[in-house]
Amino acid sequence: MNRLDEIARRRTFAIISHPDAGKTTITEKLLLFGGAIQMAGAVKARRSDKHAASDFLAVEQQRGISVSTAVMSFDYRDRAVNLLDTPGHEDFSEDTYRVLTAVDSALMVLDNAKGVEARTQALMDVCRLRDTPVMTFSNKLDREGLDPFDLLADVEKTLKIACAPVTWPIGMGQRFAGIYDILGQRVIFYEAVKRGLKNSQVVLQGADDPRLDDMVGARLADKLREDLELLSALEPFERDAYLQGQQTPVFFGSAVNNFGVQELLDAFVEIAPPPQERATLQRTVHPDEEAFTGFVFKIQANLDKAHHDRMAFVRITSGRYERRMKLRHVRKGKDFAVNNATMFLARDRVIAEEAFPGDIIGLHNHGGLRVGDTLTEGEELKFSGIPAFAPELFRRARLLDPLKSKALLKGLEQLGEEGAAQFFRPIEGSDYILGALGSLQFDVIQSRLETEYGVRAAFEGVPLGAARWITGPSAELHTFIEQNRRRIYHDIHGNPTFIAQSEWAVNYAADQNPKLSFHKTMEI
Ligand code: G4P
Repeated sequence: MNRLDEIARRRTFAIISHPDAGKTTITEKLLLFGGAIQMAGAVKARRSDKHAASDFLAVEQQRGISVSTAVMSFDYRDRAVNLLDTPGHEDFSEDTYRVLTAVDSALMVLDNAKGVEARTQALMDVCRLRDTPVMTFSNKLDREGLDPFDLLADVEKTLKIACAPVTWPIGMGQRFAGIYDILGQRVIFYEAVKRGLKNSQVVLQGADDPRLDDMVGARLADKLREDLELLSALEPFERDAYLQGQQTPVFFGSAVNNFGVQELLDAFVEIAPPPQERATLQRTVHPDEEAFTGFVFKIQANLDKAHHDRMAFVRITSGRYERRMKLRHVRKGKDFAVNNATMFLARDRVIAEEAFPGDIIGLHNHGGLRVGDTLTEGEELKFSGIPAFAPELFRRARLLDPLKSKALLKGLEQLGEEGAAQFFRPIEGSDYILGALGSLQFDVIQSRLETEYGVRAAFEGVPLGAARWITGPSAELHTFIEQNRRRIYHDIHGNPTFIAQSEWAVNYAADQNPKLSFHKTMEI
């Protein structure tokens, strides 16, 4: 197959959801339908990350689980699907957000009883930065939940995106009988089998078929017809509006029962976008260009505890990767040969012989790579739009062995560069502050400081709760910094950052200083 055909068949996406909405279950079912795993339960092991941080670290180090599932690739129909994992639960971190810079579309999974929850909203905000197309799956229809119209209203109101239902549930909870495929105008029933539900052989064309009443009872049949009448007043699904991030097609189902997942996957490979162009500071890079380009969106350290190794995850954005090719590390101005890039199948890692835009390759132990770095075949490019996110959790690093202060600083700086957590120096005083989005990040830093830098440090709580990078005209900026010296810090790039006790306090400061900009995200 030629390069352009390979690119055109790639579909690279991630799942965004609030913990417990069903991301793991859907991932597993997608892999199952994609033929990448044979048995349900294979991905479940990963759910151990719901438990204590120490369990997670132990699990990760013993089995490298989070790496083998960082990217899951499988073929479905004639498409090559790359599903990127978005760490959730305890291992939620900036990585979760940055993964979204490496995809071409996203699948939003909602718990039908809960609608849009906090983390989903935060992840959607990140999708918005690049107008990433989003498909929606409302899960757990086998339980009582919101009326589907209320669910649509919640999505539209909370996320400010238009909804276009593509399937529609018939009943809910105990009475969940099937779905209506709006585009195909078909009724698809499910039947109860020993361990859940399965697609029934019976499919009806249109909701007016009188057999519908026999199958689901007159009440549900009438309700469906009424619903369809109301739905006909909504804007229909428009692929262009979806591709521009203005409309989300909505599917209903029950992942644990394999209900509606096949329809979702079929639609996904049909409508989701192939690899998209990307902005650099210099120009826009198109995937069809011949020369290789890519950027690092995640660094994973200590896959193998004994070797202090690291893997840089690179999203390919143009050209073609071939084993042993030479790449330019643009920030360092250095070329290096890549002999052992890794690719990720659903459960295995393999040495990549070739890879294409949309694919993710893992570069092992190219120590100098950082999140945000650009790789090319020689062109001086810097991909833009890879954000850092204002942390929400803060700790003060306190040295337990006073003679190691240099090693502590070095460790914090290097781990900060890698993106393991953010590191801030106060302009007054000497309390280094670590910032994170998930509390597990502090445990990871603490354990890595000890094993890699020989530093024992304790992380103490501090009365800080919100951070913003500040920019603006230099006179105003200077005055603000002078007036708030005790709350100003520098991040590892030297950017001034205002860190206060609460969201309220940073918003108040922003209101009082209209000439300054207070940023929650910052490009790196
Ligand atoms: P997450 O990765 O988004 O956190 O969610 P996960 O898939 O782990 O699912 C969270 C819980 O919701 C699990 O139950 C899972 O079985 C359940 N679940 C997923 N899809 C459905 C569905 O369609 N219907 C119903 N009723 N439940 C669903 P758990 O009790 O935490 O674990 P388990 O012991 O049941 O596996």
